[in-house]
Order: sequence, then C-alpha cells, then structure tokens
Amino acid sequence: MRLAIVYDSRTGTTKAAAEMMAELATSKGHDCSVVPVQAADSSDVSSAEAVCVGSWTEGLFFILQHATKATMEFIETLSLEGKPAAVFCTYKTSAGKMLPKMAQAMKDRGARVTGQFKARGPHVPEGFSAWVDDLG
Ligand SMILES: Cc1cc2nc3c(=O)[nH]c(=O)nc-3n(C[C@H](O)[C@H](O)[C@H](O)COP(=O)(O)O)c2cc1C
Repeated sequence: MRLAIVYDSRTGTTKAAAEMMAELATSKGHDCSVVPVQAADSSDVSSAEAVCVGSWTEGLFFILQHATKATMEFIETLSLEGKPAAVFCTYKTSAGKMLPKMAQAMKDRGARVTGQFKARGPHVPEGFSAWVDDLG
C-alpha cells in the first residue's frame, strides 16, 4: 500500500520519529514516503492510499497544546475521501487534546482516522506498528 507520512519538526525529534515510522512501514512491505510539511505536495499526499500526519507539540507544556500552524494548514489542503489515516505527535510533558483536534481536522478532509499516536522522544510511537498491520 502507498503510505504518505508528513511531519513538522523544529529540532529533529519528530523528523527522527517519522523516519523510523517510515522505515518500519517499508519493512512491512509498504511503499512509504516521508516528507516535512514544508516540502509536502498536497495532491501527492492526497493520492496516497493511507496518510499519517505528525507534529511536535506546541503549547504551554501543561495546557493549550496544539499542532503547529503549518501542520494544520497543510491538513486543510488535503482531500482524503474515505482513506485510512493517522495522526501523531512528539511531546515532552503533555500532548493535551492536540491529537483529537488533529484527528478532527483530518476527518473534516474526509479521512477515516484509525490511529492517534504520541511519542515522548524520537521513537516509533506505541500503536503505530499495529496500525500499519491493520492497513493490510
Ligand atoms: C515553544 C515550545 C512549546 C512547547 N510546548 C509543549 C507542550 O505544551 N507540551 C509538551 O509536551 N511539549 C511541548 N514542547 C516540547 C516539544 O513539543 C517536544 O520537545 C517535541 O518532541 C519537539 O519536536 P521537534 O524536535 O521535532 O521539534 C514545546 C516546545 C517548544 C519549543
């Protein structure tokens, strides 16, 4: 399956996590791209069979967490009618309600959001491997 992973990273943590996620998906036989949101092509990502979008957590560490503006603006450009999708973030203290908000934005673009993952550092988030397995 063609899977597109798009991420926003300021200091490299989310980039490292996204690249490990792509490596894992590739090792399971998927054709997986991984690109920073600043370089992502909306129609290319929308044409993938499954899409995963991630951001670092921006907020006041314990409150008001959200995905980056670039991430949310990119999601708004997608057209994902019925496609399986996931959102993820890296964080330090708390991701708050950021993932459900990202998921809602993806649903508003037509996606079927079947995964919401977080990693406290440059790791493959828990649950991502099983999500990839469920893609078939
Ligand atoms: C301005 C700023 C605000 C942040 N706010 C939060 C926050 O509210 N909650 C949290 O858990 N981490 C917060 N962090 C930590 C980052 O989200 C975390 O270190 C992330 O993994 C960084 O990813 P990156 O290396 O890809 O940029 C904040 C970092 C910065 C620079």
